[in-house]
Amino acid sequence: MTTKQISVCVALLAYSIWLGACADRPEKDKDTSRPATFGFQTGLDESLIAEGRLAYERYCIGCHGEQGDGKGDAAVFLDPKPRNFINAQYKFSSTRSGQLPKDEDLKRTIKYGLRGSAMPAFNLLPERKVDALVAYIKAFSPKWEEREPAAAIPFVGNPYMSPDDRDEAIARGEKIYHGYAACWSCHPSYVSEAKINQYLVELGGSARTEFRANLFEPEGKPNDEGDLIYPPDFRRDFVRAGMSVEDLYRSIAAGISGTAMPTWVDSIHVPAENPDDPPIVSQADLWAMAYYVQDLIAQRPALLAEAQVEVRDRPRPIYLHGEPPAKPPEAPATTQPVDVDFEF
Ligand code: HEC
Ligand code: HEC
Repeated sequence: MTTKQISVCVALLAYSIWLGACADRPEKDKDTSRPATFGFQTGLDESLIAEGRLAYERYCIGCHGEQGDGKGDAAVFLDPKPRNFINAQYKFSSTRSGQLPKDEDLKRTIKYGLRGSAMPAFNLLPERKVDALVAYIKAFSPKWEEREPAAAIPFVGNPYMSPDDRDEAIARGEKIYHGYAACWSCHPSYVSEAKINQYLVELGGSARTEFRANLFEPEGKPNDEGDLIYPPDFRRDFVRAGMSVEDLYRSIAAGISGTAMPTWVDSIHVPAENPDDPPIVSQADLWAMAYYVQDLIAQRPALLAEAQVEVRDRPRPIYLHGEPPAKPPEAPATTQPVDVDFEF
């Protein structure tokens, strides 16, 4: 364990003891004089909000802060930082990057947590409590009143539903990821430069003579707050918002607000020369990439020691298990399937 990890553990332990203390705080000590900022949402059941506030004080305040600004007592030890609910910039949603999320998106985060960050999964909370928490955290930001509710991206037909189509989806996803979408401009490439060029040409583009340095490692990109965020290397890092094909499709198609991860759903279309022919690259290819990314995740070494799991949002790459590979890492030798919980 590094000193930083130890201090995080100590902080979380202190925080849980403190949580216990809060839980025992007599009801009469609670400050009920705070103005009801819930005016941003109308027609809400008062008791739901009161329930949300209690649950927030019990489960969330230590990280997300009393004011919802993400500056709870534990926040100083956390990287990435807890979300600031006041500016309502949520990352993982079924709406396009920059738009407010759906309630279902917030509920999903609360129930399943964000893997690879400190955000825990509150999957044992009753449904009503989750609804109450959503109502309460929305109350921190006036944006919910100022903006029209956004539409979710279309979850258009996944052409690879049958298990027999899986290999085809993965192969197609690899081609689009490297050839047309150039996801490797931020995430790592998992194939050689020659292969990228082969894919580019096959998809009607032209071969490149230059590639970025460290092509097989993620490239740090600043988020809106100027912090350098490392896009996940799918064979090593956690993805936060779930590993099912639907979850990955959502992250890829909708993009991730406030970070460099773009919204792909509106910009992935290359028509064929003959208008009667199917497009060369289409929205269905977003599904193919979701299968491909899921396959990369499943290739994670089965025995990645805890100390080797890198913190993803690191200020600079830390290679806890040696120098970065000079060529694409081979799939692990073991044929043992990794215990990946695709229902996560
Ligand atoms: C131990 C610290 C911790 C606790 C406790 C915690 N969170 Fe979080 N939460 C985080 C962190 C860290 C993030 C940011 C993760 C990231 O950026 O990937 C986050 C992010 C979120 C998000 C934003 C997701 C998005 O799409 O951007 C929501 C919503 C959220 N938390 C709700 C809650 C609620 C509700 C509770 C209480 C029931 C809670 N959190 C408790 C640490 C915590
Ligand atoms: C301009 C840079 C950039 C490009 C291009 C890009 N990404 Fe990302 N991507 C990011 C960043 C940054 C994150 C991490 C966001 C975070 O967790 O804060 C990310 C995260 C992700 C995630 C993880 C979501 C989660 O749940 O944690 C997936 C999946 C993903 N990208 C897939 C793709 C695919 C597929 C492509 C190509 C179609 C692509 N990305 C292109 C920057 C990029």
